[in-house]
Amino acid sequence: MSFELPPLPYAKTAFGELISEATFNFHHGKHHNAYVTKTNDAIEGTDHAGKKLSEIIKAADGGLFNNAAQVWNHSFYWLCLSPAKKEMPAELKSRIEADFGSVEDFKEKFKAEAVGHFASGWAWLVLNGDKLEITSLHDADSPVAHDMKPLLTIDVWEHAYYLDYQNARPDYVSALLDNAIDWDFVAQNLDGEGVSRADQG
Ligand code: FE2
Repeated sequence: MSFELPPLPYAKTAFGELISEATFNFHHGKHHNAYVTKTNDAIEGTDHAGKKLSEIIKAADGGLFNNAAQVWNHSFYWLCLSPAKKEMPAELKSRIEADFGSVEDFKEKFKAEAVGHFASGWAWLVLNGDKLEITSLHDADSPVAHDMKPLLTIDVWEHAYYLDYQNARPDYVSALLDNAIDWDFVAQNLDGEGVSRADQG
């Protein structure tokens, strides 16, 4: 049994200019797909064959870690996005207000983390114990490897935004945070319900 590229949960044209069809063609169809293929090639005939993706991420290092973690991170990222603008569910909103002051303060802090992250990586909202925290991880690194409970991510590798925003990472992050986040999915991750959807195996 091998891992598969999960289908996008929306049409590639659904986001209009926010995220173009061309970006989905490359980001999902080429980059994400390549991580899946390389993970499958690396585990074939090894003790990792048959394990869950999250188990491989926790056990592996080097190239296999990078490819498996990138499969998981991208599967999670697609689920964090919504082509229809969504309202934040009340429970999530009150948790954000309790830990960051206001939704606007949260967005500013998340944006600063995402924009300030040097080179390739991912910005994350995670649940650490009972507290919401904003952090970022380098390259392929994933909360799965650190026993963090991920709620939301934005991919800040250039391949995520270069076709639509060129080098303007702040514009990309703002556009997504203000218009294209599936806050229902983020809220589901408070109890881990959504996280398992990014796993495979
Ligand atoms: Fe990516």
